[in-house]
Amino acid sequence: MIEVPGDKSISHRALLLSVLADGESRLTGVLTGEDCRSTASVLRDLGASLPPLPGDGSEFRVQGVGPQGLRSPSRELDCGNSGTTARLLLGLLSGLTIEATLTGDASLRSRPMRRVTEPLSRMGARFQEFGVDGRLPIGVSGGALRSIVYTNRRSSAQVKGALLLAGVTGGVEIEISEPAPSRDHTERMLRRLGVRVDQERTPDGWKIHLTNPPARLRPLDLHVPGDFSSAAFLIAFGLLGGAGGPLRIRNVGLNPTRTGLLDVLGDMGAEIEVENLREETDPAGEPAGDLVVTPSELRGGSVGGEMIPRLIDEIPVLAVLATRARGTTEIRDAAELRVKESDRIRVMADNLGRIGARVSELPDGLRIEGDLRPLAGRVAAHGDHRVAMAFGVLGGLAGHRIQVDDPAAAGVSFPGFWDLLAELGRMDGDGGVAGRAMARTP
Ligand code: S3P
Repeated sequence: MIEVPGDKSISHRALLLSVLADGESRLTGVLTGEDCRSTASVLRDLGASLPPLPGDGSEFRVQGVGPQGLRSPSRELDCGNSGTTARLLLGLLSGLTIEATLTGDASLRSRPMRRVTEPLSRMGARFQEFGVDGRLPIGVSGGALRSIVYTNRRSSAQVKGALLLAGVTGGVEIEISEPAPSRDHTERMLRRLGVRVDQERTPDGWKIHLTNPPARLRPLDLHVPGDFSSAAFLIAFGLLGGAGGPLRIRNVGLNPTRTGLLDVLGDMGAEIEVENLREETDPAGEPAGDLVVTPSELRGGSVGGEMIPRLIDEIPVLAVLATRARGTTEIRDAAELRVKESDRIRVMADNLGRIGARVSELPDGLRIEGDLRPLAGRVAAHGDHRVAMAFGVLGGLAGHRIQVDDPAAAGVSFPGFWDLLAELGRMDGDGGVAGRAMARTP
């Protein structure tokens, strides 16, 4: 039985909202990956006194300072590689009388930010764009906000979360619609803190409505479940026989806005059981359970439309799985992947081609012909954690010889990934160990 580190999306939100709350929050299972360290560090720069994140998921207490307890930082807020940190923070700061400049690493400085600054400007926040085409660095000057009714053409939990956080710090009503439901962790956590957030199906998609945000937020008492997006790599490893038999992964977050991969893999022939499902009856809770993954023969599948937001972060590993499935797999409607930590469509197509897989790059996705042939070669992760880990899974399997150029990239979301993969591979005898050694060689 293994466990994966805490959910990245929930951990970011737990840190931000604990600081905004009134009183002491108690968090367990918080992710200590580099992205969450970036969130903790910018919060410290804004005046929050956050202790170091415990590496073992043990209890972590945060003294909330309330929105008015934050102050303008004396240096640029470095969000590192984390798009969620940058976008949620732009929203949170919009409602406060704070002046700050946000920046990040080269990958983050190349990612679009107007998707949040544009609606936040309409609410009354002011931004100064120092980067190209509205990218970071960006100066934010928050203050009195107006409420907004906003329709987002693309589903995005970061945009939705930024507007909801601006609603909370600015004390204004927010109505945001999106075509398909994006992950709803912000809504669930805000409800837990005493904020009214409703969700409603409309003819064009989904509408989320935040009303009467209270001036004070209750502190959080929260256990962060394991990250489904991290578990996805081990699910793939288990399905492809890397663990030498069934693999159990304990305490994985199973929020339905995140688990599209289970549905798609089920259609592709995967045997994955959910056990001990803890459905939080409280609408503010997060469901979690254990996964039992049995090695399975996969057939090709097709993904697109409303499914995409439910598995957006799992597409790199799905693409790797598709090379091991009989027949064609087609991934469409996923152009958003081009502006993730790397251009994941181009990077996956290039790397899969380089190691001998049959792949076509589509404007909005990938077409992969699985043929079960062994794959070999060196792949370029482009500093992207999910690309590095997707190929790590393949490299950990007997028969493949894959070198990942930047294994350390995994630390963004999954500290200990390579050790865990090595541990699992050991169950598989020599083949797994040999494959793993190749996967680790920088
Ligand atoms: C996230 C939302 C998603 C996801 C990202 C994390 C979040 O991005 O891809 O890894 O925590 O809100 P978008 O909101 O841009 O789809």
